[in-house]
Amino acid sequence: MKQSALLAGGLMAAPMIAGANYFSGSEEIIKVAVIGCGGRGTGAVIQALLAKKNVRLVAMADAFKDNVEKCYATITSDDVADGVSLKDRIDVPEERRFHGFDAYKKAIPFADVVILTTPPGFRPIHFEEAVRLGKHVFMEKPVATDPAGVKRVLEAAETARKKKLNVVVGLQRRYQNSYRELFGRKDLIGDITSAQVWWNSDGVWVRPRKEGMTEMEYQMRNWYYFNWLCGDHICEQHIHNIDVVNWFKNDFPVSAQGMGGREVRKGKDHGEIFDHHYVEFTYADGTVMNSQCRHIPGPMSKVDEKAENNPYQEEHNELFDAILKGEYRFDDTEIGAKSTLTAIIGRMATYSGQVIKFEEALNSGISIMPEEFSFTATPPVLPDENGYYPVAVPGVTKYF
Ligand SMILES: NC(=O)c1ccc[n+]([C@@H]2O[C@H](COP(=O)([O-])OP(=O)(O)OC[C@H]3O[C@@H](n4cnc5c(N)ncnc54)[C@H](O)[C@@H]3O)[C@@H](O)[C@H]2O)c1
Repeated sequence: MKQSALLAGGLMAAPMIAGANYFSGSEEIIKVAVIGCGGRGTGAVIQALLAKKNVRLVAMADAFKDNVEKCYATITSDDVADGVSLKDRIDVPEERRFHGFDAYKKAIPFADVVILTTPPGFRPIHFEEAVRLGKHVFMEKPVATDPAGVKRVLEAAETARKKKLNVVVGLQRRYQNSYRELFGRKDLIGDITSAQVWWNSDGVWVRPRKEGMTEMEYQMRNWYYFNWLCGDHICEQHIHNIDVVNWFKNDFPVSAQGMGGREVRKGKDHGEIFDHHYVEFTYADGTVMNSQCRHIPGPMSKVDEKAENNPYQEEHNELFDAILKGEYRFDDTEIGAKSTLTAIIGRMATYSGQVIKFEEALNSGISIMPEEFSFTATPPVLPDENGYYPVAVPGVTKYF
């Protein structure tokens, strides 16, 4: 706890917890570190700096030096947010711009609040470290790519709770006015007995292999197409829609069964993920959520959203407001972890064609992460002699 906050007295009544930095609502500086300086990391840094005028970025970490430097150049440009410069809120000299697999360990100690925006496979490792060091956290969804990762995040959440660390997970519909208003209108909604959710879109980027890359570097760059890093698009994107139903039901499905495959996205640069999934998720009360997601250019697109408040900004406004006022307000980890697992069992269901049970998966210990993290280590999936990766086959792929 900051000494001046102690001197300020009064406002600090709640969180007298070792390790967690809370503030008095004064002009004190809140220090932020970002782990994962890509598109979302850059956006989240800008939103954090805009949330309160006394927020400062003090450390950055990425697996790759070029990505740290690109992000640094963007956020220190003259016109970063509608003509606003944030330069005077960025204090990250070269010696606090880290790269490599262990960069997170070097950056986190400098901060009060940590932004975790790498591909989701690393989230359990980075979240554990942030919690261990008593940091408040903003972390992007999903929070893992396999059941073992979800379990680690749930365990770290217990510690975060004890230390009263605010944790916001980037399931931003929970911070969006229209969803919040509707959630408040139980009189209009009544009991939900069935639900449908969609993320049908064209798909996302491909980052092709370049000469001289090790297999590990290639997978890290083209991370969307590898399950240990991404979790497949049902987990990486469709989690948003699935989470809304979990939120409104105030529950998580007990099982999933479905089908899926890859129709058009099956080149060498498309790794191992599917391009469509259709899953029936069943809740304990018998409610069924029908979920469909597709990454195929051309067909009907449907990801229903409305333009209104910017929920990405709102996440940071509310998080930094709580920290500055010395309040413990956010404990998103469990819902983030359990909605992540919902999407993961969806993937396991479409890959295997089996019914996958939530609790059985959670306690399965199934891990798809590598044993070793280095650019010369062997990733958990490898291409065949023609450059194609093994893809799941329902009826053949088995988990239980
Ligand atoms: N809430 C949303 O709407 C939303 C939108 C976009 C992305 N996201 C999430 O944000 C995360 C990042 O996505 P993105 O679009 O920014 O991807 P990106 O590829 O643009 O950025 C990821 C960055 O993380 C770095 N990285 C990879 N492994 C790392 C490691 N071990 N340590 C440090 N850095 C590492 C990469 O080099 C890259 O710079 C994903 O979980 C994604 O699902 C959420």
